[in-house]
Amino acid sequence: MKIGIINAGNIGLNLAVGWIRHGHDIMLSKDTHPEELRERTRALALGRGLSETELSRFRYGSLTDAAQFGDIVVMAVYFPRLEPVLEELHKDGVTFSGKIVIDTMNPLNVDASFNHFHDLKFMEQTSVTERLQLEFPEAILFKAFNNVPAGLLDIKKWSDGSYPSIIFIGGKSVEDAAQVRTLIETSGFKPQFAGHDLSDSRILEKLGILVHRLADNEYGGDTGIAIGVVKSSSE
Ligand SMILES: NC(=O)c1ccc[n+]([C@@H]2O[C@H](COP(=O)([O-])OP(=O)(O)OC[C@H]3O[C@@H](n4cnc5c(N)ncnc54)[C@H](OP(=O)(O)O)[C@@H]3O)[C@@H](O)[C@H]2O)c1
Repeated sequence: MKIGIINAGNIGLNLAVGWIRHGHDIMLSKDTHPEELRERTRALALGRGLSETELSRFRYGSLTDAAQFGDIVVMAVYFPRLEPVLEELHKDGVTFSGKIVIDTMNPLNVDASFNHFHDLKFMEQTSVTERLQLEFPEAILFKAFNNVPAGLLDIKKWSDGSYPSIIFIGGKSVEDAAQVRTLIETSGFKPQFAGHDLSDSRILEKLGILVHRLADNEYGGDTGIAIGVVKSSSE
């Protein structure tokens, strides 16, 4: 698959590194500090055991280049930067027409002291996914990966046999959902499809609040946790 990553930061880059070794063609872009992207990619990729040959397969471009390159596009933009990024894409005529767009984002805003907080006002009214669908009516939107910390998107971190379920929502057709499912499976994770109604992406964004509460109350503030779905083997 041809995949464009709009903002290869923590999450975008970790996803890309997982996917490149499965033969996908990937174009990376970075919103802030694009000049550091190649070096950051090298450090993360080699740290996760990629070879020089695998590393050399990454392509690099602008946010718009990545939007145009991918049949599947990952939107992994830092939420406080969403508006300027949307502006740039629109200015360059990006429509995502007929493309699968996977939104990984959470509505986490930041205050002057760089403390992050869930933007409850925004969350009462909409979700990032719905916002993107409004901005790009011809895109085939999905929500996925927003509740797993970027550093834990390496399946090797789950070698004890437990692993998070990637719960995803969206897409207009069964065929589109199947492609997203396959992409999740190729990273080694377990896809759990929660339905086609994009407004349900609000549930996945709110789940982030629960994860933060659990981190605070059960794990001493350690946010290296994720949600798994288990099914009882008994009736
Ligand atoms: N990170 C995760 O574990 C994770 C997991 C699930 C979903 N998401 C969602 O995915 C989207 C992208 O998240 P991301 O974390 O991958 O974004 P990112 O681009 O890596 O964003 C982090 C942003 O904060 C800046 N930044 C980082 N540390 C900073 C510091 N100490 N002081 C000032 N600025 C700093 C980065 O700047 P530079 O990169 O330019 O240095 C960048 O602008 C977000 O909507 C997020 O909610 C993230």
